[in-house]
Amino acid sequence: MTEISQFRFPTDIRFGVGARSVLAEFAQKYKVSRPLLVTDSELPETEAFHLVAEQMNRVWPGAYVQFTGVHPNPTDQDVEDAWGSYVQGDCDGVVGLGGGSALDAAKALRLKVAFPNTALMEMPFDELPQLVPMCAIPTTAGTGSEVGRSSVITIQQMGRKTVLSAQPLMAEVAVLDPELTVGLPPNLTASTGMDAMTHAIEAFVCPVFHPMCDAIALEAIRLVRLYLPRAYCNGADLEARGMMQVAAAMGAVSFQKDLGAAHSLSHPLSSEFGIQHGLANAIALPSVVRFNGQQDCAQYERIAIALGCLESPDDPASQVADFLQSFNRSIGITQRLRDLKVPRKKLPELAAKAMEDGCHLSNPRRCIRADMLRLYEEIW
Ligand SMILES: [Fe+2]
Repeated sequence: MTEISQFRFPTDIRFGVGARSVLAEFAQKYKVSRPLLVTDSELPETEAFHLVAEQMNRVWPGAYVQFTGVHPNPTDQDVEDAWGSYVQGDCDGVVGLGGGSALDAAKALRLKVAFPNTALMEMPFDELPQLVPMCAIPTTAGTGSEVGRSSVITIQQMGRKTVLSAQPLMAEVAVLDPELTVGLPPNLTASTGMDAMTHAIEAFVCPVFHPMCDAIALEAIRLVRLYLPRAYCNGADLEARGMMQVAAAMGAVSFQKDLGAAHSLSHPLSSEFGIQHGLANAIALPSVVRFNGQQDCAQYERIAIALGCLESPDDPASQVADFLQSFNRSIGITQRLRDLKVPRKKLPELAAKAMEDGCHLSNPRRCIRADMLRLYEEIW
């Protein structure tokens, strides 16, 4: 072994029904007296928002500021606007609440606090100071942004999603409170859950030496298989909701290794056709597993064991791909790209965009544009 690897799992995670009460400790430990609550425009209508706002009122009565303007694929303008609220409100900490978009915007606005005159893309990512304290509270179980060191922001001038990544972007505390995902409808429960599954599977087969991440990925896969169908069928099943939150966080920890071609296929489907990220991954994943398996099927054996679908030692990749297809169906994911109004003639353009995406660079099998097109054709 000639390369030196770095392993790190530093996020303070609080898990359990009612874990949002940890906001009191967050206020005290990090001396936050006036936080900015960052979320998207739809969240204030939800029970999750109500539960967290109640807790915030208890901890910071009349002293916190809200920003509810984060868009589904957050832009640098969203981050600027949130930062404007932060400055205007004279805030001294951040509470991110919502799905990956809200959490990513909340993480990134702390860069603007540190460097007010610097554009997001120009930030000195290699020498960031400690950023203002942040508590991340997810209301979905999929992206795992609450434990990630990256923030995916669309830079409007470039018209493309950009991954900002640095250790100080990580939240100080992640709160996994199963009650906050109870209101997530079945279709979003399924698609966000499959995002977690895709993270773990892509991370596991990604050719980077990180045995700790590999172990975490396998457990995340097992948990999604066990608990996603339960959370999908009964949204009020707190045990299933909680274990899906754990699985999502573990999936995100594991993909610090990197991701693969399913994410490269998925990103343009979201940016060009607004297809929900997890849904796009769920649709792409079985074909990518089959594609990778044609080169090396043995790498999927332990995944097949984690999924409980290994029936013979021959071609575990095909067994995983078949399992994922029926698993998708069992949680209501039956769509092909044609059902999602993606015109067939757009596929070559999408394939070019998938190649521009960085995730496939860590796919275990090298992809060229023709491969991307073939994979899109397969799921069209
Ligand atoms: Fe993802």
